[in-house]
Order: sequence, then structure tokens, then C-alpha cells
Amino acid sequence: MCGIVGYVGPRDSQAILISGLARLEYRGYDSAGIAVIDAAGDLDMRKRAGKLQVLRDDLAAHPMPDGTTGIGHTRWATHGGPTDANAHPHLADDDKLAVIHNGIIENFSELKAELLSLGYTFRSETDTEVAAVLLGHEYQASGDLVAAFRAVAKRLEGAFTLLAMHQDQPGLVVGARRNSPLVIGLGEGENFLGSDVAAFVEHTRSALAIGQDEIVAITPEGVTVTDFAGEEVSVEPFEVVWDASAAEKGGWSSFMAKEVSEEPDAVANTIRGRVHDGQVVIPELEGLDDLFTGIRRVIIVACGTAAYAAQTGAYAIEQWTRVPVSVELAHEFRYRDPVIGDDTLVVSISQSGETMDTLMAVKYARERGARTLSICNTQGATIPRESDAVIYTHAGPEVAVASTKAFVAQITALYLFALHVARLRGSLPAVEAADHVRELEAVPAKIQRVLDEEQAHIEQFSRWMADTQSVLFLGRHVGYPIALEGALKLKEISYIHAEGFAAGELKHGPIALIEPGQPVFVLVPSPRESAELHKKVVSNIQEIRARGARVIAVAEEGDAAVLPFADEVLRIPLAGPFFEPLLAVVPLHIFAMGLATAKGLDVDQPRNLAKSVTVE
Ligand code: F6R
Repeated sequence: MCGIVGYVGPRDSQAILISGLARLEYRGYDSAGIAVIDAAGDLDMRKRAGKLQVLRDDLAAHPMPDGTTGIGHTRWATHGGPTDANAHPHLADDDKLAVIHNGIIENFSELKAELLSLGYTFRSETDTEVAAVLLGHEYQASGDLVAAFRAVAKRLEGAFTLLAMHQDQPGLVVGARRNSPLVIGLGEGENFLGSDVAAFVEHTRSALAIGQDEIVAITPEGVTVTDFAGEEVSVEPFEVVWDASAAEKGGWSSFMAKEVSEEPDAVANTIRGRVHDGQVVIPELEGLDDLFTGIRRVIIVACGTAAYAAQTGAYAIEQWTRVPVSVELAHEFRYRDPVIGDDTLVVSISQSGETMDTLMAVKYARERGARTLSICNTQGATIPRESDAVIYTHAGPEVAVASTKAFVAQITALYLFALHVARLRGSLPAVEAADHVRELEAVPAKIQRVLDEEQAHIEQFSRWMADTQSVLFLGRHVGYPIALEGALKLKEISYIHAEGFAAGELKHGPIALIEPGQPVFVLVPSPRESAELHKKVVSNIQEIRARGARVIAVAEEGDAAVLPFADEVLRIPLAGPFFEPLLAVVPLHIFAMGLATAKGLDVDQPRNLAKSVTVE
């Protein structure tokens, strides 16, 4: 969480910092602040609790001198509430040093006690200010910001990205990172730092990814990266494939609305370049066959929506590759001493590539000898860098906090992975594999049909449901994770109680929740493809209907069996059983968005959340 941006160059930095923060605001929106070193050589700082707009308004009402060296921060509160005082930047060394931070410094109380005993005082409750004061203390000793960073970084425990500048060293921004993201943007006579490339993509697409435990110093002329011991290290350049407009709202009412509309493209772009002569060949996995042929087990680790994508994909991976697959929440995985070794492939899924729990699970798996593959949407992110291999989803930048297009892209990537491995292992007849490829390639047009034909209907119907207190979602087989995803999306952006259940689990308890009028979404499997399951789900519908539930069925076109028992039917085009989830989730995304909008809520920035969860 927290967005970080830094700039040095010939231009005035305030506008660059504010527009960078606007693109990073999805990372946290409890407060925002900037600091610049002005033309007179003084350090000026402004920070305000609340969304970035509050800071913008404040700067418009009371302009601050501009300058060509600056740092900016948008916060998701960890230590200390979202107040002006706790907002970043934090100042130290007689207000000549400004520091911003993402992450958690675990030993901050010990360090604070030490600094208090030396006579330092504090103005906030944050761990960041402790780092700032310590940095000021070290700067006093060396008069060199990089040397001071080196001394401080070694003393900090936990995860952090720290950025700082000192008014005695204008034209220099220094950053350090451990288990928290930081990338460099290379310009002409100017350079940038950011939590991710969104911070600077409107200025440059030429970027460098910084490794763990490294310190970067940027000046207008260049970039130096060293490890915490001061040894220079080489950095990996990459070209940002997103263009700046991809991360703009572009006329849509919200980023979420735009991103739901991009679900067809997210799937199509993730497939592009990975199918040759009807077979899946993933170029990024070339030369890595042994990573997949020798494995006896796959464990997929992820959090939230990404974990539901994992659960959805797991059915196909196991069926097509005949390798046992399990799915675990990343934060549970590494605390239970799992049995893993070099015959285990741990696949991580993360849109941001920065989720701390997922990152730690990957590191844990590697330390225990497992092979690791990441499925990620963000270039230059930490998780792919910590993995043996990566399959990028090409969903484009996802800005709304609630994940939508990344979800369908993640399932698509899992299917591609399954078909790639199945080909290598010879576990799936070629004809069958080719059928699955055809089905997958047909998905984007089918999602588009759901959007074209059902969106207006679902939006209208979500408006009628704006006063609903609780919604349940039921599914079986691949429909089960989609039920979980439907419930998560609804709670997350509309603040309505929602639960997803495996339909078969109903009679083991949850059916007690059904009372007259209770809305229940039911994901109905195809009667053509899964006759047995279809019958079971129709029986489940009858059971809840008999107890007064208001049934909203998501069913394929032409399925008449649900009609007598459903109050609403949301139609999806015909598709094979593994491909239905990619269609069935779309009405649920539209519904959550429609209902939250009807309640007048900000669908892009729901309360208490941030898009990238970089703390455990
Ligand atoms: C829900 C949502 C979250 C994320 C989760 C993992 O809409 O967005 O549940 O899916 O925090 O994030 P990534 O995929 O970035 O690891």
C-alpha cells in the first residue's frame, strides 16, 4: 500500500508529483503529501489527510513554491490514523530532510526509544517518522544522504521503500527498498522513482527494476544503484508496455466501469502470441520445460480475487495435466509448514505482483526447494522477479481497487499454463487440447455479448436492489469460486453483507439463512455440458425457493429448466464447462458495480482498502 513518487530534473516538480500520485492513488487514499526543494534552496512541504483532491485544493488555495527536486506520497494508514500529522512526508534534521515510506518498520519502537533517549522529539505516531529522524541523525554524521541511507537501511527490520531528499543536496533523491516495490523511470535530463511505473509512465516508458536490499540515487544526469554494503549493482532495464492513456478513465464514469468493459480485451490480449497452429506455446516458458515435466504437484498461492481465479483454474489444470493441484491463501500457506520440495511447482497469482503475503509465500517456497512460477499483470513487480518463471497477464493497468479484468486474465493465463504443461507432459489428446484452445479463443467475443446484451438489464435490476441488506451466491464445481468472487466484489464495493457457498454445502448449515425475500444468485452449470451438476443445482434452487429465497439465476442461453424457479435470469452464451466461469463472472461484476453506484458509493476507492496490499 501507499504510493510513492520522486522526481529530479529541469521541470517544476509539483505537477509531476501530483499527476504521479493521481495514478498511484489506488494504492492508498487516506492522505497525500509532497515536498519540493524550491529555487531558493529551501525545502517546502504540504500534506493533508483525505484523498489527493484535498491536497490539490489546499495547494490551489495556498500555493507553495515550486522546485525541480521533489517527492510525493499517497497513504494507506498502518501506524497512526489518517491525520495531517501522520501523513507523509515526514521531516527531520531541522526540517531540511523529507522522507516518505511504504511498508512497515517492525522495530520502530526500539529505534524510537533510542532516538528519544538522544533527545529527539516526534510529531506523529508513525514508524516512518522514526526512519526520518534516524536518517537525519545519520546525515548529521556523514553529510551524505546515500551514506546515511546505507546506515539506516541496515538497522531497519520489516518491509520498506523509503525515499528522501535533503535541502543541502538539491537535485538528488535517494531511495531504498526491502520487500516493497520501487522502480526507476529514465528520462532525458530527468529521472523518476515510483512504487510502480504508473507514477511516471506519462513521461517515460524506459524503466529499471531495482532488486531487494538496494539503494538508488537519482540526479538529473543519472542513476546509481548500490546494495546496502555500498557495492554498485547492475539493474535490469525494461520498456513499459502500457501507454499512459491506458491508465486514464477516458470518459467512463469510473475506472471499474472502464475495466469491466475491458474484460474481453484482457482475455484476448493474454492469449495473443501464445497460440501457434492450435497449440499453446508460451514463449516466456521456452527452455524451462524441466520446470513442468518433473513436477508431481502444483500448489497455487494467492490472495482475494486472485485466489478465486486460482480455485477456478485449478479444476482445468488438474484435469488436463493430471498433476494434483491445490490452492492456498498465501498468508496461510507459509505458516503451516507445508510439505514441499523440488517436485513441487508453486504458482503464485498476483495482479500487482507486490502483495506481501504472496511474495512471502513465494520466497518461502523457494527457500524450501520448490520451483516457482508467477502469474502477474505488472511489469517490474517484485513477485515475478523472485520467481523462476513468469506468465504475464496482459490485462493492462488495473486502477480500480476491485479487481475485475485482471481476474478473467488470470483464469485465462492459468488455462494457457495448463494447456502448455499438458502438451509437454502429453497428458491431453491433441484434439481435445485444440478444442479447449478454440473455446478459449471464443471467450472474448462471448464476454462482449454479455456486456452488450445484459449490462443495461443488470444495472437496472441492481438499482432495484439498492436497499438489500444481504446477498448470497451459490455455485458448484467451477461455479463455486465464481460465487465467492461475486460475494467478495459485492462486500468490497457496496458494503453489503454477502457470502458465497458451494451449493452442495447449503444443507449443511447455510440454508438456515434463507428467509422470505433473501436474494440468492445461483451459478447454473450448462445442462448440455454438465447434465448431472445442472440437475443438482436446479434442485438446490428449488430448495431455497421453497423457503422464500428470491433467486437470480446466471444460466446459459436456452436453459429453460431454471425459468419456473428463478425471479431473474441473467443469460450467458453457451460455453464448455471450464469456460463458463469467464462469462458467468461478468454479470456479477456488473451487479456489484451497479449496486454500489446506486448507493452513491465510490466504486473505485472503497473504504478501508487499497489495491496493492504490501503489508502482512
Ligand atoms: C478484490 C481484490 C483483492 C485482490 C488481492 C490480491 O477485488 O482486488 O482481493 O485480488 O488483494 O491482489 P493481487 O492480485 O495484486 O496480489
